[in-house]
Amino acid sequence: MIVDRQGRRFRNLRISLTAACNYACTYCVPDGKRLVAAQDELSADAMVRGVAYLIEAAGIERLRITGGEPLVSPKLEPFLREVSQLGLQDISLTSNGQLLSRKLPLLVESGMRRLNISLDTLDPDAFKRIARGGDLDSVLQGLEEAKGAGLKVKINMVPLRGQNHDQVLPLLDYCLERGFELRFIELMRMGHLARDGGGFQQQFYGMDELLATIAERYEFVQADAPLDATALRYEIPGHGFFGVIANESVPFCRTCSRLRLSSTGWLHGCLSSSNRHFVGDLLDKPRHQALPALQRLLVRALGDKQDLAFSGGVTVMKIIGG
Ligand code: GTP
Ligand code: 5AD
Repeated sequence: MIVDRQGRRFRNLRISLTAACNYACTYCVPDGKRLVAAQDELSADAMVRGVAYLIEAAGIERLRITGGEPLVSPKLEPFLREVSQLGLQDISLTSNGQLLSRKLPLLVESGMRRLNISLDTLDPDAFKRIARGGDLDSVLQGLEEAKGAGLKVKINMVPLRGQNHDQVLPLLDYCLERGFELRFIELMRMGHLARDGGGFQQQFYGMDELLATIAERYEFVQADAPLDATALRYEIPGHGFFGVIANESVPFCRTCSRLRLSSTGWLHGCLSSSNRHFVGDLLDKPRHQALPALQRLLVRALGDKQDLAFSGGVTVMKIIGG
């Protein structure tokens, strides 16, 4: 297992099953063109081997399946069937929920207990403008069914000034009524937003303003959250919980335990770094050949994490065990 000077190690793996998505959200793609699967995406088998190798080489305990949109991928079923046998503590999935109703039986059958679903608005017109695809009612129906099936649901909302910031309280009420934990995600400077500073500034709706809006209706107190959680958590006594993923206002790099594997076989140690490490070829190799090479790349990937306390230095400190 690899640990850095700040005690960080990879504990959570996020695997992108496919780059393809059935939406084209304004904050994700600039031109409304949907992302499609890359030609050279890994097979479900290679991905399962990747997870198995990373459990051993990095000490991965929890898996999150992402995309693109994971529910559009034909790899979902074979991947879930195999990966659920690997003894992970937790397997969950982040989705836009458009196909949730259809795929719910498969998720439940695989033993999945929780889901994170993106939902930026309850207004059908604003939904079409932001997602540039999909249908709000299908998402809402999938959510009711997931609740009925006993899954723990978190809702992710990216508040955007002028587009959906009027939905903060309606979405909060909707979630509190259903026992869903709503997380407000501050807009991140990713992709085209990293290049288009003006567009970012105009749309950014930050944590301070958000909390002030919520305080108009509810009293809330800070609540416990796991040390390496993305979200600051708040409790509205008697009503439930909500969270804020304050990527900009309160970065959580110091406790980050995330590792990403892209659908084309690249490891990313940090969402904010452009560094990546190709492991796709290793996933076709037997364990004894793959693991040592993988460990060397994991050291580099861990070194890519932002080093807030020790800026400038190489962070990786020690390699423990095998
Ligand atoms: P759980 O804590 O397991 O519920 O999941 P999560 O919050 O890590 O997963 P989710 O896919 O729902 O991610 C929600 C948001 O967290 C993303 O949209 C990002 O904005 C943010 N996020 C996730 N991982 C990272 C990361 O490594 N770095 C940063 N800065 N933000 C991240
Ligand atoms: N800023 C903030 N959140 C984003 N997401 C995608 N792109 C961005 C961005 N630029 C969110 C989606 C989804 C989650 C996995 O990532 O809304 O909820």
